Amino acid sequence: MIINKPPMGWNSWNTFGWEINDQVIRDTADIMVSSGLKDAGYEYVVIDDCYALRDRDADGKIVPDPDKFPYGMKALSDYVHSKGLKFGMYSCAGVMTCAWYPSSYDKEFIDAQTFADWGVDYLKYDFCNFPKSADPVMAYARMSMALKATGRDIVFSACNWGDCEVEKWIRSTGAHLYRSTGDIGERFSAILNNCRSQDEKIRYSAPGCFNDMDMLVVGMDGIGNVGHPGLCGDTEYKTHFALWCLNSQPLMMGSDLRKLRPEILELLTNKDLLRIDQDEECRPPMYSSIKGDNRPTFFKHLSNRQFALGFFNLDDTPGSADFRPWDIGFPTTSGIGMMLRDVFTGEVIGPVNDYMTMYLEPHDCRVYLGEWVTM
Ligand code: GLA
Repeated sequence: MIINKPPMGWNSWNTFGWEINDQVIRDTADIMVSSGLKDAGYEYVVIDDCYALRDRDADGKIVPDPDKFPYGMKALSDYVHSKGLKFGMYSCAGVMTCAWYPSSYDKEFIDAQTFADWGVDYLKYDFCNFPKSADPVMAYARMSMALKATGRDIVFSACNWGDCEVEKWIRSTGAHLYRSTGDIGERFSAILNNCRSQDEKIRYSAPGCFNDMDMLVVGMDGIGNVGHPGLCGDTEYKTHFALWCLNSQPLMMGSDLRKLRPEILELLTNKDLLRIDQDEECRPPMYSSIKGDNRPTFFKHLSNRQFALGFFNLDDTPGSADFRPWDIGFPTTSGIGMMLRDVFTGEVIGPVNDYMTMYLEPHDCRVYLGEWVTM
């Protein structure tokens, strides 16, 4: 199975943590269809940690908590599939999950079969409580192989938080994406930390196996497991989403979709940003390093001779971000210019072939989708 675009969907962890249940998942699937999120490309509905009983059954199998999931996982996955969506679940490479539920260390083959029997299409695979004496490469390789051995197409989403120089070996294990950062929270500093930590690592992300800067906190509005009231507003959500798209990141929504505001739905379904994120070439951006630069500018080559140009003010004070075309190998005397369409307002400017400076409010950004034209 080839996963040649960063996966898009929703994951329960950011908002619901351990307070997940059958109804939340069904409601989420319903809204993904009725709101247009599915049509925009969001596909996977993923249940994270805390869905199981603390103990396995007599056959050694993981048991869904009957209080939370009274109809079992197969019935729930059937429901999600009936909506034209895909069903994802969670386990962990350690001896217990992060929230101390049964985990797949040395149980890879039995658990992979259980997930396949439940109709799982996507497995997030965490790294808590992993024995210090064990080999992480082998642990991820075993689960990847166990999933393939079921005969079912299951996206393998590794999650070891960027530890153990994961970018150097994870592709060889067969994983389709891998968390290359620690956990996000609904704080601008956490969003930036995760993005900054990829400055040197984003080049490893490519079709077949993608870096993963963690799930989106867009639109959480301070509610839920990793929510922080008052720390992010619509400007921070806009910049967070733009940074993820310019880095061709997996887009796993983390908010309570039942409370989705129209502004947030508009952001999450922004056609130009999704086109940039899902570009088949999945190139890392060039020009300005985000590490240590509070007003970076990103230039990203896209397929069909298009490109994206993003100006960011990550600072707490207003200021300007600059684009010097010669820094990306674009001489002002070349006779070509850039036609630029603002992905948020639709405003078109150009042709431009010279220095640009963009004044931005704190934490704000401006992103263009561009095409080359003859001047
Ligand atoms: C880890 C992961 C999170 C989430 C929790 C669940 O912290 O990084 O994304 O899955 O475990 O317990």
